[in-house]
Amino acid sequence: MSTENLTDRWENLEKLGADIAQNFHLRRAFASDAGRFGRYHLQFDDLFVDYSKNLVTDAVMGELIDLAKAANVTEWRDRMFAGDRINITENRAVLHTALRNLDGGPVMVDGQDIMPGIKDVLARMKAFAARVQGGDWKGHTGKTICDVVNIGIGGSDLGPVMINEALRPFHLDGIRAHFVSNVDGAHLVDTLKDLDPERTLFVIASKTFTTDETLTNALSARAWLIEKLGDDGAVAKHFVAVSTALDKVADFGIDTDNAFGFWDWVGGRYSLWSAIGLPVILAVGYDKFEELLRGAASMDHHFRTARLAENIPVILALIGVWYRNILGAASHAILPYDQHLSRLPAYLQQADMESNGKSVQRDGKKVTRASGPVIWGEPGTNGQHAFYQLIHQGTELIPVDFLVAAKALHPLQNHHDKLVANCLAQAEALMRGKTAQEVQVELAAQGMSDGEIAALAPHKVFAGNKPSTMILYKQLDPFTLGRLVAMYEHKIFVQGIIWNVNSYDQWGVELGKQLAKELLPMVRGEETAQNRDSSTAGLIDQLYSLRS
Ligand code: F6P
Repeated sequence: MSTENLTDRWENLEKLGADIAQNFHLRRAFASDAGRFGRYHLQFDDLFVDYSKNLVTDAVMGELIDLAKAANVTEWRDRMFAGDRINITENRAVLHTALRNLDGGPVMVDGQDIMPGIKDVLARMKAFAARVQGGDWKGHTGKTICDVVNIGIGGSDLGPVMINEALRPFHLDGIRAHFVSNVDGAHLVDTLKDLDPERTLFVIASKTFTTDETLTNALSARAWLIEKLGDDGAVAKHFVAVSTALDKVADFGIDTDNAFGFWDWVGGRYSLWSAIGLPVILAVGYDKFEELLRGAASMDHHFRTARLAENIPVILALIGVWYRNILGAASHAILPYDQHLSRLPAYLQQADMESNGKSVQRDGKKVTRASGPVIWGEPGTNGQHAFYQLIHQGTELIPVDFLVAAKALHPLQNHHDKLVANCLAQAEALMRGKTAQEVQVELAAQGMSDGEIAALAPHKVFAGNKPSTMILYKQLDPFTLGRLVAMYEHKIFVQGIIWNVNSYDQWGVELGKQLAKELLPMVRGEETAQNRDSSTAGLIDQLYSLRS
């Protein structure tokens, strides 16, 4: 299927888009339609999605649903869940959903049920974590473990980091998880500075076990441990690994009895549900991890069974397509009013942008429409005091997702009430704005002269009509978190299908890796840079003069 088959749908959407751009204002839409909120929200147990503050009408939503139908979203969805090799450029199935299919039936890949293997690794992780947490796993000098350092990058870091942060209220006493990803030595050095080598366990997490940053950090961590403990043999009790490449784990010198595998049908940025979740299990305990999986599974079930018009990931995806392709939004902001979701925007940057940041369709032809937007964000209320100015009064259209919990998991209710009030206030302010007339009345009431009002008023006007979606949940427990993350995964999937891109490869990361290898000897002064472009060669020269 190529996007050309959708031409009629796109044309209809463009017509509607032109009308919305000219004639629609959210303030008027709410004023004239008491049923707007009632029609434009979705509820799935205690997850509530209000999309009424988006620049949509019944006609727009109807056309978007028709677009999803024309793009065969449900057929593609079923192919993904069935283990078809929809990642065509790597000839792989896309089955992160199987990792949380704990109560479901068999999932077949190449004629084999993959569920027993998944459950086996989960059981091994559970047993291992219990040994570490219970103090039965001892370091080389016989001491128990109190610090776990996950060394990984991209999907082998961002998922566990985000979940570890999100589940802070559930952290077990006695084990602290740390994450080192950057090849910048400062990351490793700063992390190890306060750690006791006798009580530190390293988890080397890499799907491929070839990623240079991770192997460099792992080698330096190993050198640190051996130097501190004075014995090469210490590695066995302080290093475990998570990978699909257990042969490479063995080559690195980690006993494969202490390695936890996963499979090529788990994409790196979809891997937090696999053994990549090990540091999370060590931090919060296996049971909480299983709740996370079950939450994700519940969203999988919703995604597979809910009608398109009531399907949360589908609706979020379609609204995103509307802004990206019809109303021209270049970015999408993720604004959690939940400090524990502080790493969600970074996590979703990889999940979304590595998946849908593509310029060719599945058949290799150039895309004819814009694909994935820039994803960015920070927790509220912090963002309000930083970049919200541009969202309210700048020249860009930036659709936003607000995420907020009804109940806090801390005792400071006063704080939580203020947090929620701010979140609702921002959504309302974006929607309604403030008219010139409202500003004039306000300034006049402050005693300003007509001249002063005329000069200041334009600066104080808010156009409003800025879209947002409110994602409200009861509380951020592991189950809810699993549900939210799976919701975004499926949203990304649906958009990839509509844009007809392969959301599961990432060839765009390769060139930089290759060039970094070529440039390393030049940076080290082992080779001349004279054959590079003049900028790169000039910068290497400058590097040397600054170093000397
Ligand atoms: O460079 C991008 C990438 O391949 C991501 O897709 C992946 O999550 C990350 O690198 C880490 O890869 P690995 O887990 O194989 O070390």
